[in-house]
Amino acid sequence: MGEPLFDLVITNGICVTAADVARYDVAIKDEKIVLLAASGSLAGVSTKQIIDAEGGYVTPGGVDCHVHLEEPALFGRGTSSDTFETGTRSAVAGGCTTIVAFAPQPKDQPSLLRALELAHEKAHDNCFCDYGFHLLVGNPGEQALSEFAALTEKEGVTSLKIYMTYTALQLRDGEILSVLAEARRHRIFTMIHAENGDVLNWLTDQLESKKLFAPKYHSHSRPPTLEAEATNRAIALSSLISNTPILLVHVSDPGATRRIREAQSNGQPIYAETCPQYLFLTRDDLDKPGFEGAKCVCAPPPRDRASQEVIWTGLRNGTFSVLSSDHCPFNYDDAEHGKKTPIDDDHPVGRFREIPNGIPGIETRLPLVFSSGKLPLTKFVEVTSTNPAKLYGLYPRKGSLIPGVSDADLVVWYPDSDLPNVTLTNSMLHHATDYTPYEGRRVRNWPRYTILRGRVVWDRETGGVVGGKGYGQFLKRGHSTLDGMWEAVEEEGEFDITRL
Ligand SMILES: *[C@@H]1O[C@H](CO)[C@@H](O)[C@H](O)[C@H]1NC(C)=O
Ligand SMILES: *[C@@H]1O[C@H](CO)[C@@H](O)[C@H](O)[C@H]1NC(C)=O
Repeated sequence: MGEPLFDLVITNGICVTAADVARYDVAIKDEKIVLLAASGSLAGVSTKQIIDAEGGYVTPGGVDCHVHLEEPALFGRGTSSDTFETGTRSAVAGGCTTIVAFAPQPKDQPSLLRALELAHEKAHDNCFCDYGFHLLVGNPGEQALSEFAALTEKEGVTSLKIYMTYTALQLRDGEILSVLAEARRHRIFTMIHAENGDVLNWLTDQLESKKLFAPKYHSHSRPPTLEAEATNRAIALSSLISNTPILLVHVSDPGATRRIREAQSNGQPIYAETCPQYLFLTRDDLDKPGFEGAKCVCAPPPRDRASQEVIWTGLRNGTFSVLSSDHCPFNYDDAEHGKKTPIDDDHPVGRFREIPNGIPGIETRLPLVFSSGKLPLTKFVEVTSTNPAKLYGLYPRKGSLIPGVSDADLVVWYPDSDLPNVTLTNSMLHHATDYTPYEGRRVRNWPRYTILRGRVVWDRETGGVVGGKGYGQFLKRGHSTLDGMWEAVEEEGEFDITRL
């Protein structure tokens, strides 16, 4: 008897990719998918391990490219409640095998490479899933811009994020143009948080002058117009720099969505992301008794039911390429680093402007959306795995099931005949955060197994998180390949100011 032919075989599954839903068996060897075969045909093959999917769906592992972990307090008060260890542990328990997290550059740090180095130190040997970094650019000075070449050519970092709000991070329009021009030169993909920070500050001052401090006023301080205006401005700035590709992150508003759709219809390379909070929460969730609404304070704020439907439609029709978590966790019952920091004797309901912005969601993203029944399964895979992999230069290693090419990253779901009846509670999650905004919500399915590079890292029935901390590897990423965006840039040529 020689070596078994395969390391792991998954039989009797219904495999879903962004293109197809079909029954076939999957064989894995040396961390890669090596063979797809007729359903049931690999049941007796020689393999170290076999999983019978029993007619359940098998999807590529989730790719979540909007994740904040272990960041310093850049957005005001509050520090992340999840480390790379606890955040990625939570990721695999929810079917996510790859994340791209942020390496934040504070305004007083001139170097992006230094910011990246610090993020590496935190993540190294601590991750349960594979990971990469986007640079979060807070100070696009001469040094930072001069480092773009090294980021793409040496460090495998091909995307960055900038902010149009938050005092500590907000860039002026001129700074945004500097970033876009340099990003275009180096084929770096730019993510933009589009909310008008100056308008937001003015509205916040007005609310506070009327002593309106409760969490629900967070939503009044960030009305849809403020997102739509900044979205429009971001699109205009991109077009000024010869149509440099950008992604609007966490879009919540129908007005912003329409503007994005319009730009796309004009052939502009404008991409958009949305998140579960804009599909499952509304502004009413900010108006819970006492301070509870703080649990759903994130930016932009959740909108109304009608907006949710617009966002679902935009996911189905391709306006949104990706659905990420924007996992940005803070503990609720924590007056020193968490949501409760703004509560004091003068402010018994806190001050919404000081509530750390962000909610946890890395583990609940896939189960919530998979269970919703609101996306065709191929579309579910496309926006949660395949497109993120393409957009951030990880495809086809991630986000697909191509034999010989794709890493063996898979989620095996429960068969329809054997659905678990899961009521979401924080106690069943694996993050280090003391609440979930989805407490009490029911989901119809959950990842039964999560497999990362051929190894079972999550086994819901026996063992839970069985993967090892440190098994997750850093991923050097290539340039974005979605829609051939950089070929179009190549054709259009470099930014030439005399053509304006
Ligand atoms: C696609 O969805 C967006 C957002 O809901 C909507 O504005 C747009 O009209 C839709 N387009 C088509 C062609 O259905
Ligand atoms: C699932 O659990 C809920 C709450 O415990 C219960 O009300 C419901 O009937 C259950 N549904 C099924 C299909 O078992």
